[in-house]
Amino acid sequence: MKFFIDTANIKEIETAHQLGILDGVTTNPTLLSREKGDYREILKQICKIVDGPISAEVISDDSEGMIKEAEKLREIGDNIVIKIPCTKQGLIAVNKLRNEEILCNVTLIFSPVQALMSARAGAAFVSPFVGRLDDIQHDGMNLIQDIMTIYDNYCMDTEIIVASIRHPIHVVQAALIGADICTIPFSVIDKLLNHPLTNNGIANFKADWEKVSK
Ligand code: G3P
Repeated sequence: MKFFIDTANIKEIETAHQLGILDGVTTNPTLLSREKGDYREILKQICKIVDGPISAEVISDDSEGMIKEAEKLREIGDNIVIKIPCTKQGLIAVNKLRNEEILCNVTLIFSPVQALMSARAGAAFVSPFVGRLDDIQHDGMNLIQDIMTIYDNYCMDTEIIVASIRHPIHVVQAALIGADICTIPFSVIDKLLNHPLTNNGIANFKADWEKVSK
């Protein structure tokens, strides 16, 4: 499973990058709004740090506006992927952008058929939001399983980015069902390596070593 980080924060991206696990970055207007400075400069910096797909989202409602934004965003870096919401206008834009060989990540996916239609329209990636489904008492990870089954049935190569990750169990579940990519907030990445038995083990090894090394 590939690891993406779900943030626009440069420090978080640099720290995760140092772990050697980072394959890409997803941003959205909310995440960019939390950072200081011009969003284009932030995206440019992110593109320099991570050599992988960097999702940047459009905010227009109409396909023409989305396509104009996409072309501007692509000037920032060759690895920019255009994040487009799963609407009719969104899929029209995705379909046109695929003819220009611009990769799109269709976002705000909450049903299997949205993912099927996005793949048919030419999405390189889809982003189903598991956490937001869990929030309303639907099992988000079932959606991932359903999308994987549909894509396997038709040999579709659109990659599934498991998004809206809230805790390490989401990451484990995504890996167990064989999801392509998980995009994870820094706060969750930070927890992934943390295990009390590892911490205790280190403390015990140190204490035993100190007894003989004096
Ligand atoms: O990548 C999508 C993600 O940022 C949404 O997460 O926690 O706002 O549901 P959340």
